[in-house]
Amino acid sequence: MELTALCWHRQRLDVLDQRALPHDTRWMPCHDATDVASAIRDMVVRGAPAIGIAAAYGVALAAQRLGAEASLERLAPALQQLAESRPTAVNLFWALERMGKVLAGLEGEALIARAVAEAEHIHAEDLALNHRLAEHGVSLLPQGSFIYTHCNTGTLATGGHGTALGVIRTAWQGGRIAGVYAGETRPWMQGSRLTSWELMQDGVPVTLVTDSMAAVLMQSGRIGAVIVGADRITANGDTANKIGTYGLAVLAHHHRIPFIVAAPVATIDPQLADGSAIPIEQRPADEVRQIHGVPVAPATVPVFNPAFDVTPAGLISAIVTERGVITRPDTAAVRAHLALPAPE
Ligand code: MRU
Repeated sequence: MELTALCWHRQRLDVLDQRALPHDTRWMPCHDATDVASAIRDMVVRGAPAIGIAAAYGVALAAQRLGAEASLERLAPALQQLAESRPTAVNLFWALERMGKVLAGLEGEALIARAVAEAEHIHAEDLALNHRLAEHGVSLLPQGSFIYTHCNTGTLATGGHGTALGVIRTAWQGGRIAGVYAGETRPWMQGSRLTSWELMQDGVPVTLVTDSMAAVLMQSGRIGAVIVGADRITANGDTANKIGTYGLAVLAHHHRIPFIVAAPVATIDPQLADGSAIPIEQRPADEVRQIHGVPVAPATVPVFNPAFDVTPAGLISAIVTERGVITRPDTAAVRAHLALPAPE
């Protein structure tokens, strides 16, 4: 069966449990917004675009539960519950806002039909735009090079194909790159459990490294570019992404290696002037004290566990979206990309 993070059955959303991958394939059935909010909060589904799509289906399920009573007003608790599931990836709020806009003024069956159609549309649109994004991104990767990536930005994190991993996939298929180094991405191991697995299934040569090996790898001259995804890009190009991304950007800058961010336009939050305003999720201490339930530290040692960090725009060589490439991102370039008027 083709890999997918989310399987929609019109009255139920099945979410592939990414906590169990790659060794176990199990699905969590979601029947309402509460189930979907739990799946997002507990990281059954993760990755900025995928949680946005899941949230849209959560709204559709909530509408179906309300039946003839469905209205935007009555959907408010479900929208709220979904909005509180995770704070950093703006795609979640973008999807909820988009659902709210199209459902305004509708009721009952008409609202349900529109909610289902819009959620399906958001899902299909994400897959299509990832292919466009990938086409734009390929030329940013040096011919014949090895690429370093972090976290998981593939099919599992999106509606399909992936963002940074989509660029990598398309580049590999076109004979552009020699292979990939995937950082394991402590503490949740998205790189080792998900990215290396996805790439191996596609026959893309991948070498897994611990995060602490990135520096020596870049120093060795083996890396032609670093490419990562994003959870939120602010108006000036500052980019929140999986913890560890900022360190990679500093390393890439030091070694004069292009550092590329790949994300859909929906990940850009022009409301926030810069990265200091991005809410950063703090995750439970046991994620660091344990690996898959196995203790690797004293049980009560204090832990610092932010799920994301912010890479300043000045360290980013290019941001690639489905619309094209923002080279050397800053406020003017990001606004131009979004076709927003220049600030006063
Ligand atoms: O905590 P996660 O696994 O949801 O974090 C995911 C990332 O940071 C990804 O790089 C980002 O969401 C982009 S996914 C296309």
